Amino acid sequence: MNALTHLAIIMDGNGRWAKLRGKPRTYGHQKGINTLRNITIWCAQNHIAYLTFYAFSTENWSRPRTEVDFLMRMLKKYLLQERPTYLEHKIRFKAIGDLKKFSASLQKTISNLEQETAEHTALTQILALNYGGRDEIARACGHIIQKGLQGDMQTLIAEYLDTARLPDVDLLVRTGGEMRLSNFLLWQSNYAELFFSPVLWPDFTPEHLQEIIALFNQRQRKFGRV
Ligand code: FPP
Repeated sequence: MNALTHLAIIMDGNGRWAKLRGKPRTYGHQKGINTLRNITIWCAQNHIAYLTFYAFSTENWSRPRTEVDFLMRMLKKYLLQERPTYLEHKIRFKAIGDLKKFSASLQKTISNLEQETAEHTALTQILALNYGGRDEIARACGHIIQKGLQGDMQTLIAEYLDTARLPDVDLLVRTGGEMRLSNFLLWQSNYAELFFSPVLWPDFTPEHLQEIIALFNQRQRKFGRV
């Protein structure tokens, strides 16, 4: 058995899932919300401490305007609508990414849910929003330079990342069949075990995740040692 403290997930395949059904891509994102909820609740009930989802990347702004607008509206609706899930299952919510680019009202909705769930202990669910791994590292370095801080550079960077005080990623899963990291948690995934599932995100279930965790437990993690 390997310790699984931090699970990170790239939710890919919503658009293709919808297209296969002759529906607009946005329909796939709507269905993807159900998977997001199911996987989150399963992780809370199965003692996974940290669960990070890639919900919107720094590169996603270049999608068609209608899709970006839809995702923004959906995000706000999700945060308001899913409040009972966070309360019922004692899930702490946290957002990472450069949130300044979002509307003031969306930023407020994000910080309200963060504050309201700050003391919850079953699971910390982290949504990566306007997130890019390079952007995050660059912002951290910018702060360090601006403040004129000195010391061990790796420690300083880790302290100024959006994920400060969160553990590194143990297991990184990407659904939808593509095999790349797409600028997700680059620093934090240095020794993460990677799994790529062909299942499109709306079809991904806790049973699929359990199969991946069983394989993860068979991997020998070496962290650079022999
Ligand atoms: C990737 O699928 C998915 C996204 C870029 C957005 C993920 C969002 C959700 C699952 C819903 C939850 C989000 C919020 C805002 C709470 P894709 O569109 O790249 O699919 P494709 O690879 O088939 O085109």
